[in-house]
Amino acid sequence: MLNIKNKPSQPIIAVSILSADFGQMAMDCHDVINKGADALHLDVMDGHFAPNLTMGADMVKGVRKHLPDTYLDAHLMVERPQDYVEQFAKAGCNNFSFHWEVTTDNPERNNRVEGVNATDLIKQIHDLGMDAGLVINPDTPAQALEKYLDQIQVALVMSVWPGFSGQKFMPEVLAKVQWLRENGPDTMRVEMDGGVAPETVQACAQAGCDMIVSASAVFGSDDRQAVIAALHDGAKYWPAALR
Ligand code: DX5
Ligand code: ZN
Repeated sequence: MLNIKNKPSQPIIAVSILSADFGQMAMDCHDVINKGADALHLDVMDGHFAPNLTMGADMVKGVRKHLPDTYLDAHLMVERPQDYVEQFAKAGCNNFSFHWEVTTDNPERNNRVEGVNATDLIKQIHDLGMDAGLVINPDTPAQALEKYLDQIQVALVMSVWPGFSGQKFMPEVLAKVQWLRENGPDTMRVEMDGGVAPETVQACAQAGCDMIVSASAVFGSDDRQAVIAALHDGAKYWPAALR
């Protein structure tokens, strides 16, 4: 099993199953893993935090059953991640990432729900044996994560608005990656998510990303192997100083 706390020799490529064929999920997951993906990224949305309904712990469980050795990286775009942490751990999830925007730190959080205390939730995630990640939306500064950098294994920078795959990459978030990579420990990965394709992966790697998500570029291609290889190739733009 991949250990994301070890500094990787090149960026980890996590394929998001949001663009897979949900009617043949296990087959599609096997396919991208066999074609070079390092991990699978699972986009969980509750129809409130993000304007879409996607998947829950049962999907993690199903994927885990068919792929016992694959690192499963869950990205919770939900208002109350604390309600799902136990069931995701039981389902076999490896990393549980939740949004900074739903925490008590965010003064503008949606007031329909009570914010979650990030430190408490990170501790709970760790106690359940998972890695913990914090995610920032395109308009949230990287410094929002400053006090958590020594606690989390993943700092996820959104390069699109949560909701759908197939959106256009927002290059203005790259500066945040640089700051997070410079300020985070070696045991923390900086993950980019949204609009990453062979054309945009180089800029991500150059900024210091060491974990990269891609959905539509991979699943939308007739040659998934070539796209995954091109994503790995972006690694050669990784600054030597960060290796
Ligand atoms: C967006 C999701 C992303 C998305 C990526 O809400 O968090 O993971 O599925 O899809 P692409 O790679 O198509 O932008
Ligand atoms: Zn995602």
